[in-house]
Amino acid sequence: MNKEIISCKNLYKSYFQAELEVPVLMGINLHVGEGESLSIIGISGSGKSTLLHLLGGLDTPTSGDIKIIGQNITAINEEEKCQIRNKELGFIYQFHHLLPEFSALENVAMPLLIRKINKKESYDQAKDMLNRVGLGHRISHTPGELSGGERQRAAIARALVTKPSCILADEPTGNLDRHTAEEVFQLMLDLNHNAGASLIIVTHDSLLSKQTGRILKLVDGVLLE
Ligand SMILES: Nc1ncnc2c1ncn2[C@@H]1O[C@H](COP(=O)(O)OP(=O)(O)OP(=O)(O)O)[C@@H](O)[C@H]1O
Ligand SMILES: [Mg+2]
Repeated sequence: MNKEIISCKNLYKSYFQAELEVPVLMGINLHVGEGESLSIIGISGSGKSTLLHLLGGLDTPTSGDIKIIGQNITAINEEEKCQIRNKELGFIYQFHHLLPEFSALENVAMPLLIRKINKKESYDQAKDMLNRVGLGHRISHTPGELSGGERQRAAIARALVTKPSCILADEPTGNLDRHTAEEVFQLMLDLNHNAGASLIIVTHDSLLSKQTGRILKLVDGVLLE
């Protein structure tokens, strides 16, 4: 068996609204190995974003365990979690989450600067990644000055710039036309195939999901192969 990158066991997540429990995930078991790729599909509201956030350590489960590179992230503090996220994961949110007061270049360089990589190197790598997502001509624009699809591509560049062990992508191509969607997806697949990054992608796009190794469907709180 190849090296485990992310796994979860008996994962439950409910949201609580006042006294009312809204169960979303009801016993998820998942194992993702090095270099694997998988798609998560399911109807709107089935819990795909919830699951991805949990796997990326961005939210805490009601019960169950999550491991990232062998570390049980339900048992460590926020600072350690941040370090693992910065070092190992590239997260592409359903809604881009770029910092509004910074340029595309600064946004993409940020994860490298956080890693204490020097400024010149960080900006060079950020520029290179922005070129690869077709945004080389927009590097000094702030998110407010970019179109929806351009913002999404900047967010993708930010997630990939650190060459993460695992890419977690939540509808990364939702705002993009077919041609651009295919291009940025190829960039993720390229990191998957050539850099051995695992890829977990939530997508409604069957042309993309069929290019991943496995397709899992989230139905009534559980994952079906
Ligand atoms: N913070 C929250 N508080 C209460 N309920 C929430 C919260 N976040 C999500 N939910 C509920 O949990 C369910 C799953 O939400 P989630 O965002 O994971 O769905 P999804 O599968 O990603 O949907 P979509 O395809 O529309 O993005 C939904 O019914 C949603 O209303
Ligand atoms: Mg979602």
